[in-house]
Amino acid sequence: MTDDVLTPDQLDSIRDRVRALMPQVRADLEALTRIPSVSASSFDQSEVTRSAEAVAALLRAEGLDVEIVVEGGRPAVIGHVDGPEGAPTVTLYAHHDVQPPGDEADWDTPPFEPTERDGRLYGRGAADDKAGVMAHVAALRAHSGDLPVGLTIFVEGEEESGSPSLETILAKHGDRLAADAIVIADSTNWAVGSPALTTTLRGGVRVVVTVRTLDHAIHSGMYGGVAVDAVTALVRLLSTLHDEQGAVAVTGLDESVAADLDYDEARFREESGLLDETQLIGTGSILSRLWTKPSITTIGIDATSIDKASNTLAAKAAAKISMRLAPTQDPAAAFERLKEHLESHAPWGARVEVSLEESGSGFAAHADGPAYDQARASFADAWGTDPVDIGVGGSIPFISSFVERFPDAAIIVTGVEDPDTRAHGANESLHLGEFEKVCTAEAIFLARMGALHTP
Ligand code: BES
Ligand code: MN
Repeated sequence: MTDDVLTPDQLDSIRDRVRALMPQVRADLEALTRIPSVSASSFDQSEVTRSAEAVAALLRAEGLDVEIVVEGGRPAVIGHVDGPEGAPTVTLYAHHDVQPPGDEADWDTPPFEPTERDGRLYGRGAADDKAGVMAHVAALRAHSGDLPVGLTIFVEGEEESGSPSLETILAKHGDRLAADAIVIADSTNWAVGSPALTTTLRGGVRVVVTVRTLDHAIHSGMYGGVAVDAVTALVRLLSTLHDEQGAVAVTGLDESVAADLDYDEARFREESGLLDETQLIGTGSILSRLWTKPSITTIGIDATSIDKASNTLAAKAAAKISMRLAPTQDPAAAFERLKEHLESHAPWGARVEVSLEESGSGFAAHADGPAYDQARASFADAWGTDPVDIGVGGSIPFISSFVERFPDAAIIVTGVEDPDTRAHGANESLHLGEFEKVCTAEAIFLARMGALHTP
């Protein structure tokens, strides 16, 4: 590529600089991972404050103007440094809060004691998303004192709790986050050795459906056979959400076509841990089922527990349903379809009540233009292989707020994860070899963006 914006020597020099930086980046990542910054409210929130302060200190040390902002939620860190006159601007996003560790007995080493095994760093947040934070710091360090772009780093403190105060943060501090390109490092790569840009994410709707069949619980022997208990009615209602093949049976929902990548049943089984004899559900390609079609899951049920069971017909039962949506589906419309379905399929006239708990939009990137070109080139420079466009079945709902607030910015979703990361699960881990490539790609991306402008 003779007309590339960077010379091979410039690229090599960034690669070398990042390699030399990695030991310190790794040490700083471990220090962040030791802070149990769980944003869920049942955890000690002084730890989230402590991690915000640690992130702020890392950014200040690189010469950024840094502020910790709290707008009714968890502390976010905003750092900024001006670039050369007229240079493009880039905003880098990550989050410093983490998911709860879950049952510590399920971890092979303690969740908040980062430990290396077989080239991976284990710990809650070692990947999701403290490695995202450190990738930004590494890119910054690689250009220490000579940053080619105007740079803002935004490190949120409540992503794992659904970003409740992000709208207020954007309303009050959004001007500072505006940029030509916004890099959101909170997703995954396609495989070890195969980088990816996440160009679609699903949206989601969470509801609680409550079923009532009786005024009060009654004796199952005296009344069973004529009166239906609420648990049986609920289970029958839930069973109408899928057809015989396990495809979503709620009508009127959007779906779209997934990126055409090789992904077979064997890989899905391997990555998901689906039991050998359990069949896949749904129809269409596996990737469309995961990325671009709706899915419905029952994630919780309130019913009499087995321990407390007596011979009684329950009067009431409830389920929490998580519905994932096609990237461009309007969540409000999807909620209406689900609500209608549940209300109209009430078995035996059971009383059904549906309440919306939470909803969030999906994301479908405009994955072209100069910033995307440079992002793709940076990944190729770092990995030696072109990135693929992937979808993700999960959600990053706040991205839609960014799209709305910064309609002209290129929103580029990257990430440090790989299929073995187990984000949110026990034994979460970061592939250290891939992590260096993520840092290199980001450092090169900043250089490439800077080189787009001729002073
Ligand atoms: N980082 C994930 C989204 C993700 C999942 C990216 C899998 C790549 C692969 C994000 O933090 C997340 O978990 N989002 C939640 C929603 C949020 C409102 C708690 C989700 O998808 O359940
Ligand atoms: Mn996450």
